[in-house]
Amino acid sequence: MTRFVSFLAFSIFLTGCKHLPPPKPIEQLTPQEHAGRAVFNENCARCHNDRIDKPLHGPSLLGLYKQPYLPSGAPANDERVTHTIQHGRNMMPALGDRLSPEETADLLAYLHTL
Ligand code: HEC
Repeated sequence: MTRFVSFLAFSIFLTGCKHLPPPKPIEQLTPQEHAGRAVFNENCARCHNDRIDKPLHGPSLLGLYKQPYLPSGAPANDERVTHTIQHGRNMMPALGDRLSPEETADLLAYLHTL
């Protein structure tokens, strides 16, 4: 029991560094957020983690909208994120208009749950 408690304390210490609320559980996602998760998995997941705070090729998108700024220092809002998706950023390739407006809206809805 003591061991379990210290394990728990350690986990909270590890995951609690940023003091952000956890992402919305997958089983609670709305249909739109689910659709957005599929868009994410298809277009972003090879370079970004979504539900763990570990960088891949790019920064983790966990808690993206729960902090005032994106990793670059730009404000964390839909306009900036959409701009990043469409125009890319440094090593991140531009998707241009590869995503439809609906797919983009779904994707943003999912990112808001992280
Ligand atoms: C080929 C790899 C790759 C793919 C695919 C990719 N990204 Fe990125 N992304 C990156 C890298 C690398 C960065 C860091 C860019 C920098 O600031 O130098 C980044 C940065 C970002 C940022 C932070 C921008 C900022 O201003 O700090 C966001 C948000 C983002 N990506 C979202 C997405 C989304 C959403 C998708 C899917 C539509 C996606 N990315 C697909 C590699 C990728």
